[in-house]
Amino acid sequence: MPKVQLAPSILSADFSRLGEAVAAASAAGADLVHVDVMDGHFVPNITIGPIVVAAVKRSSDLPLDVHLMISEPERYVTDFVEAGADILTVHAEATHHLHRLLGQVREAGAKVGLALNPLTPLDVLEGALPYLDVALVMSVNPGFGGQSFIPASTLRVEAVRRMRDRMNPNCLIEVDGGLNVKTAPLVAAAGADVLVAGSAVFGGHGTVAENLAALRAAVGPQA
Ligand code: DX5
Ligand code: ZN
Repeated sequence: MPKVQLAPSILSADFSRLGEAVAAASAAGADLVHVDVMDGHFVPNITIGPIVVAAVKRSSDLPLDVHLMISEPERYVTDFVEAGADILTVHAEATHHLHRLLGQVREAGAKVGLALNPLTPLDVLEGALPYLDVALVMSVNPGFGGQSFIPASTLRVEAVRRMRDRMNPNCLIEVDGGLNVKTAPLVAAAGADVLVAGSAVFGGHGTVAENLAALRAAVGPQA
């Protein structure tokens, strides 16, 4: 069985000690570092921009998985790739010209990710799959860490898994939002390849290493 990758989201880390948080996740065997970029327009919250992404890049050798929750992402593709995004994920709902945008990300030199909000029809993904390296299934409404997992997401991941296996077996399925030791095994069993976890890693009871180990143990041998 292919390995399930864990991608700690720094959104729940202590931003005054961001470098240390990233280093701790990296030392604990995280596979990717997930970076949430929010603009106060596409989502209600505002987080960080390319300057901080570049700083995170300097703190870790892990691939940076940059999740853009911003309107008109086409305006910022180059900035985030130059800042160090290895995977650049854009939201289907955030642009009028998705095909062009996905090509723009590829052209800029990053792996191409597409995120879908919880009720965005999967038809969008079906059309886009041939162009993708990562399909990101949101299991909460984007904007904040620490929200509850939407239970219907499990069925959605199963549907995406069938679509992915048929249309682009090389594309990874990533799930983001509300994942913890209870919910992560559900989406892993449904076919997810990459699990994003913010509060369960950086806001949990234990150290970052303990929290990541607990997630791995919960997901089982494939993590
Ligand atoms: C939510 C972000 C997530 C967030 C997940 O909009 O995209 O990456 O950090 O946080 P948790 O794991 O706490 O739900
Ligand atoms: Zn995210």
